Amino acid sequence: MSEPLKNDIKGRIEALRQSLHHHNYRYYVLDDPEISDAQYDRMLQELKALEQAHPHLVTPDSPTQRVGASPLEKFEAIAHAVPMLSLDNAFQEEDIFDFDRRVRRLLASDEPVRYTAEPKMDGVAVELVYENGVLTAAATRGDGHVGEGVSANVKTIRSVPLVLAGEDPGRLPSLLEARGEVFIGEQKFQRLNEERRRRNLAPFANPRNAAAGSLRQLDPRITAERPLEIFFYGIGRMTGPQVDSQWELLQRLRSLGLRINPLIRWKVTIEEVLDYFRELSAMRHDLGYEIDGVVIKVDRISDQQRLGATSRSPRWAIAYKFDAVQETTKVLGIDVQVGRTGALTPVAILEPVSIGGVTVGRATLHNEDEMRRKDIRIGDRVLVQRAGDVIPEVVNVISSVRTGLEKVFPFPKNCPVCGSRAVRVEGEAVSRCMNSRCPAQLKERIRHFGSKHAFDIDGLGEKLIDQLVENRLVGTYADIFRLDAEAIGRLERMGTKSAENLIGAVEDSKQVSFARFLYALGIRHVGEHAASLLSRHFKDMDALIQVSEEEIAAIEGIGPVMASSIKKFFERKENREVVAQLLDAGVRIVHEKETAGSRLKGKTFVLTGSLEAMSRSEAKRKIESAGGRVTGSISANTDYLVTGTSPGSKLDRARALGVEVIDQEKLEALLRQTE
Ligand code: IVH
Repeated sequence: MSEPLKNDIKGRIEALRQSLHHHNYRYYVLDDPEISDAQYDRMLQELKALEQAHPHLVTPDSPTQRVGASPLEKFEAIAHAVPMLSLDNAFQEEDIFDFDRRVRRLLASDEPVRYTAEPKMDGVAVELVYENGVLTAAATRGDGHVGEGVSANVKTIRSVPLVLAGEDPGRLPSLLEARGEVFIGEQKFQRLNEERRRRNLAPFANPRNAAAGSLRQLDPRITAERPLEIFFYGIGRMTGPQVDSQWELLQRLRSLGLRINPLIRWKVTIEEVLDYFRELSAMRHDLGYEIDGVVIKVDRISDQQRLGATSRSPRWAIAYKFDAVQETTKVLGIDVQVGRTGALTPVAILEPVSIGGVTVGRATLHNEDEMRRKDIRIGDRVLVQRAGDVIPEVVNVISSVRTGLEKVFPFPKNCPVCGSRAVRVEGEAVSRCMNSRCPAQLKERIRHFGSKHAFDIDGLGEKLIDQLVENRLVGTYADIFRLDAEAIGRLERMGTKSAENLIGAVEDSKQVSFARFLYALGIRHVGEHAASLLSRHFKDMDALIQVSEEEIAAIEGIGPVMASSIKKFFERKENREVVAQLLDAGVRIVHEKETAGSRLKGKTFVLTGSLEAMSRSEAKRKIESAGGRVTGSISANTDYLVTGTSPGSKLDRARALGVEVIDQEKLEALLRQTE
């Protein structure tokens, strides 16, 4: 072969490589391809053929070299020059305001700090080393200091450039340690699992596991078949001109051909970050890949440096996580709980697992039929779900990891607490303990009676109720109002002070709205909403007791089942006695009519800090009986924030939203006006 021809071939190979790198960049980074996939493939085939004919012209950065490395014995350890830290997690808005306040305090800044807000990719963190523009090494995060060398695997990822290029090839840093997250998209994950099932291989539990498993393959040819992708979000070291902000850094990475997430929000205030979080939560299931929250980073690099880091995580960034909905864990045992109506509910005792920042150790199995339908056994690995405030539940068993040693749980025929026979009524899914004196039922009824939306008795918790019932201090609702501080003070873990507090809270609760009173009675099928409907419809208890079933059923929002249950409840003498005893013990039903038209009607209050003039529950009750509402968190709909001493971050939020802030004196004045 003559010299000029050789040069031509070399030239053609170079041109093809450059062109392929360029089109890769257009496709993955800019998301704006200039040629079709078929055209791209033709160029790649031509390059492959030329390289095969002239093996000495193959270079490691050639687009043909993504696959081909031979399997490893084990991964090489690679040290990170700059440690790869993790992030502190936040789960509530309050935590984010606290973070912002801390940042401003440490920076001694009066002005609002600007942040970059980025989707928190749920994948595997990696560091890629580019020397003179060429990818020379890649490692997982490992323990943050030393990771596993996965270069050959990372090279198989099509959105990873083998050489830095992009729009600014003239300004290549001689060394760049680029950091990002490797992940698998949801659809590709589904397809991968279908394929695995077809081949009788265990499917991956979720896309993150699939990405981690694929990246940690000793044989890069296997990794090459997995649909891995990458988004970059940071750096270790970078030579050459430095940047002033996270925003500029991400722009620089992008101009070097590194793919960044298009949903990143630049230079935003903390309030805008929260809006962004809400937007992303709403669209997270439509993104095509999994994210588990938002990463919030102080934008200015000089500020980041001043803030520094702890050994674990930077002080200039935080991960604001979505409520994780599902996690897997193991069933250690099954317990049967007795509810206030005697219903027996099977509950799974779990190996504790954190779901959205809350440790879950128990999850309901609903009833015997559900437990059988899902075939949940002791020792099973299960998927557990928690959503907002509702009780965690077991969704299903991961049957692919059963060992055969799991034990079927025989559902008890008797009440596990009082031993009386459990009865299952035709057509109902639950078995019930029919003994109305069963201590388990009594405890649950008392708990419901004192709960937040019923009598709202501060301090009447589960452990205390157990003791009150077991020591026979409380056998009926009315007994609660006859308790004396001395007897309570003698109980375990109850000093004089807490006994007095409880008596105070009980005293405070005596004035109660008709709706709360009705709800507290625990009439079957009568929830908060129905209780409120009934209270608006009947002028008092006597009117409700005397009315016919038909008349109750005629109320809009109350069905025949509920009407029949209400009628039956009041037909029983013992229930009418319960009401009489309560009134006798000093409970006073405050009718909404008395407050109608009051000034606080429709006004929403939030309480923060410790109030001195009155207890929180007292303040709440007074506001409510004046027609107002008390909620737990500030929103744009809040009318007043009432501050006690040392108010928390709610105060910042109220100011940010322009909510009127008042002190206790002002609250008392408002309440007086309405009396
Ligand atoms: S920044 C020092 N940005 O979250 C800053 N991390 O808990 C640390 N992650 O190991 C990383 N998306 O795997 C950053 N946009 C993003 C991220 C992100 C996902 C992961 C990453 C890291 C973990 C930290």
